[in-house]
Amino acid sequence: MQTIVLRGETDWDGWRQVARGLILAGVTPAALAWTVGGEATDVAAESSGFQVPRELVSLAALAIQAREPDRFSLLYKLFWRVNQGEKLLGGDPDPDLAAVRRMALAVRADAHRMRTHMRYLAVPEGGATRFVGWFEPAHFVLAANAQLIVRRFPDLALSIVTPDGAAHWDRSELRFGSGLREAADDAALRAWWDAERETLLREATLDVSVPEAEALDEISRPPDRAPLGPVVLHPKSDPALRDAANEAAVCQRCPLCAPATQTVFGEGPADAAAMFVGEQPGDQEDTIGRPFVGPAGQIMDRAMEEAGLDRRMVYVTNAVKHFKFTQRGKRRIHQTPEVPEIQACKFWLDVERVHLRPRLVVLMGASAARAGLGRGVTISRERGRQMRAPDGQTVFVTVHPSFLLRIPDAAAKAREYQAFVRDLGAIKALIVAEDRV
Ligand code: URA
Repeated sequence: MQTIVLRGETDWDGWRQVARGLILAGVTPAALAWTVGGEATDVAAESSGFQVPRELVSLAALAIQAREPDRFSLLYKLFWRVNQGEKLLGGDPDPDLAAVRRMALAVRADAHRMRTHMRYLAVPEGGATRFVGWFEPAHFVLAANAQLIVRRFPDLALSIVTPDGAAHWDRSELRFGSGLREAADDAALRAWWDAERETLLREATLDVSVPEAEALDEISRPPDRAPLGPVVLHPKSDPALRDAANEAAVCQRCPLCAPATQTVFGEGPADAAAMFVGEQPGDQEDTIGRPFVGPAGQIMDRAMEEAGLDRRMVYVTNAVKHFKFTQRGKRRIHQTPEVPEIQACKFWLDVERVHLRPRLVVLMGASAARAGLGRGVTISRERGRQMRAPDGQTVFVTVHPSFLLRIPDAAAKAREYQAFVRDLGAIKALIVAEDRV
């Protein structure tokens, strides 16, 4: 019996190379044992290969991520049989193929869970923020999915920690290192991260061997909605608001809940004087689960800072709490929410407002203005001044920050940005003025 050593639990490239060489050399499945770790077995690379149906290759690339000790030998047996001329697909049910399908299915479900259940801590890192996520996968899905997740957040420093290992993205490289063995709540994760951060980031190594990340990306979401991750709220937020956020996490008031990853509830201190309302979460907000963390959030943060407003002191939310998009290839393209969707989600905006009782509600853009004023609003005509909504709430209309991102002409963009900063300055004056009363 020959023992084959693979480099890691998901060493798809290694497995493929060894399997190709040994099958072509006529080594039977029964003559092999497979293991992981230590010095990897080197089999002379074969220049020729043999044909395997693409569907089988995709299934194998998923199944190799299953936490099943016999997966390497089962896959070898399957590929061996294909090379012997057996037609495995489309014929009678085959127990080996069925077992591999079951593994692939379990890995898919786990990959989906990972992409929808990640919860992130925002950790200060040298004047910026690193988002540290925790997930306990049932299978070895970290490598393939880390790649997909960071591809969606090229500009964020991210670490994804699991018991088996961790992936670290520093905006240019994805590196893999050791994980946190025991289960972690947020406090345990933060303590471990604070204590180990230097070592973890220093010792992580580059690993670009990702089994069929592309194939995984094509996998559609199962129709049933999985339970969602916890909601991040400012520590000062009150328990009632937290309960509301948890209820909103399973909201099905409109069809937008189905394709979105999760509900993105507002966040900020419960005693915030101002509540800023945007339109809906974007691609990054949808995945991270927090409002205004993507490009629109970054320009908003910068303008707030220039206006002397501290984002941490205001509550930030959206008129619609689910990301509305159309899928174009791998990209999710933002779609403006319809009036019925804004109306359905007004329920949650009102819940937030009733709990927070903000002195001022800042409506950024047409969707937020419709939600806050109950009618269509021409932003350029009504922006920049305090108004009273039909329900008595004091509101202030301004542009949506992503409007600034879309202006192609640099001079016009700079002008509009300054106008936004002026509006924010006026908002600050209103909040402060009320503070003195
Ligand atoms: N645009 C919004 O309106 N809200 C967000 O949270 C992000 C982008």
